[in-house]
Amino acid sequence: MGSEIRFLLNGSETRLSEVGGSDTLLDFLRLDRRMHGTKEGCAEGDCGACTVLVGRLHEGALRYEPVNACIRFLASCHGCHIVTIEHLRGKDGGLHPVQQAMVEQHGSQCGFCTPGFVMALYGLWMQNPDPSVVEIETALQGNLCRCTGYEPIVKAARAAAQAGGQAMDALSLERDAVSAWLKAVAPARIEVARGDDRAILPRDAADLALVLAENPKATIVAGATDVGLWVTKMLKRISPAVFIGHLPDLKGISVTENEVTLGAGVTYSEFEPVIEEHFPQALDYWRRIAGWQVRNAGTIGGNIANGSPIGETPPLLIALGAEVVLQNTAGMRTVALEDFFIEYGKQDRQPGEFVAAIRIPRTGADRIAAYKVSKRQHSDITATAAAFRVVTDGQVISDARIAFGGMAGTPKRAERAEAALRGKPFSRESFEAAAEAVGEDFQPLSDWRATADYRRLVAANLIRRFWLEQTGEAHRLSRAQ
Ligand code: FES
Ligand code: FES
Repeated sequence: MGSEIRFLLNGSETRLSEVGGSDTLLDFLRLDRRMHGTKEGCAEGDCGACTVLVGRLHEGALRYEPVNACIRFLASCHGCHIVTIEHLRGKDGGLHPVQQAMVEQHGSQCGFCTPGFVMALYGLWMQNPDPSVVEIETALQGNLCRCTGYEPIVKAARAAAQAGGQAMDALSLERDAVSAWLKAVAPARIEVARGDDRAILPRDAADLALVLAENPKATIVAGATDVGLWVTKMLKRISPAVFIGHLPDLKGISVTENEVTLGAGVTYSEFEPVIEEHFPQALDYWRRIAGWQVRNAGTIGGNIANGSPIGETPPLLIALGAEVVLQNTAGMRTVALEDFFIEYGKQDRQPGEFVAAIRIPRTGADRIAAYKVSKRQHSDITATAAAFRVVTDGQVISDARIAFGGMAGTPKRAERAEAALRGKPFSRESFEAAAEAVGEDFQPLSDWRATADYRRLVAANLIRRFWLEQTGEAHRLSRAQ
């Protein structure tokens, strides 16, 4: 068993043995290392001021992704390359092309957000040397600027692409050495602590089961996009924190003729290409989950396991008929995802069990859609979400699965609305009946995101929207206006 975490911080190896489970990477950078280039704005993953790059091996290949250092726990950096704004440089130690472009395009005024924007754009620049405006906007969903306005920043991203220079970039030149260092970090169980604040990194999934059997009250931390806020906003104790984001056996994705299986530790970004290829109707919805930094860290298993009634993935996965695989030292069991959510704050997960995988049936020619309603288009919390999977022979609806988030204490199917469709003609009247019936399915709450009446109205209208979009009427109506 190891008693220190090791990672690369910019150009040097860092070894730490006194690390608490709730220590954040941002505090380590700013308070311990006095590296003040990385800023703290919201401390909850919403503004992007704290953006750094995390380099990890994905199936043997080194990949850098922007993440929020404010909700990234330090212990989870074991075996990674952390890159901060201080590491950026151009030829001869001058400005990096991304920084130069921000200067030339007037992409910065007060400058507080600028290091975060530069790091997000740097991550994009490495992954995609010539991004479109839409790709730039998608990459910047998680960065907030209150003074400059986004147009000069988008222009800077385009200008950086035209400046080229990837071959001379520091990270490109260091790639082989960094990969070799990361590959040499052997899997092992690691335990570190600061006082009584403990962090445990299991060796693999089997070891995770043992760790949880030994520590049944442990907090499981995957991407920390929710647990991070328990610490930074609610000042909760999470010790012992058991980190699982590094486990390769929770990272696999396999696609067969009948189903897609993914490990619980797969992030939203890692799964996006699968959504694009196999469930393209849900791609826009997927890209509205938080911002890029959060999608690079947050995991689908975590989104399910925390049981939030407004998590984005459960409505979609329930509509698709997904199952969740739970594991402990006794073995594995599988439950339908809709049955996993028992009531608010209560899931069908025994002490010592963890979400290991999710299985999604492939759906052939079914009609699929997913919608999110929130106050802001991007990087916002859901008020109501709906997902549909409807099977027809063209005339008659043989099956309908409709799941909502934000309408009850758990993500839930709209059984009366489904019944109003099943066996009925694929017609406006059937969907109107379903829109009426959905009011009987839920007694939503009023909270600061939306009132109960608004949620009921939105739920009915999303059913109408599904009909309009599926029949092309939505398109015809918008052209007629
Ligand atoms: Fe706002 Fe981290 S400080 S995202
Ligand atoms: Fe001031 Fe962006 S330049 S917040």
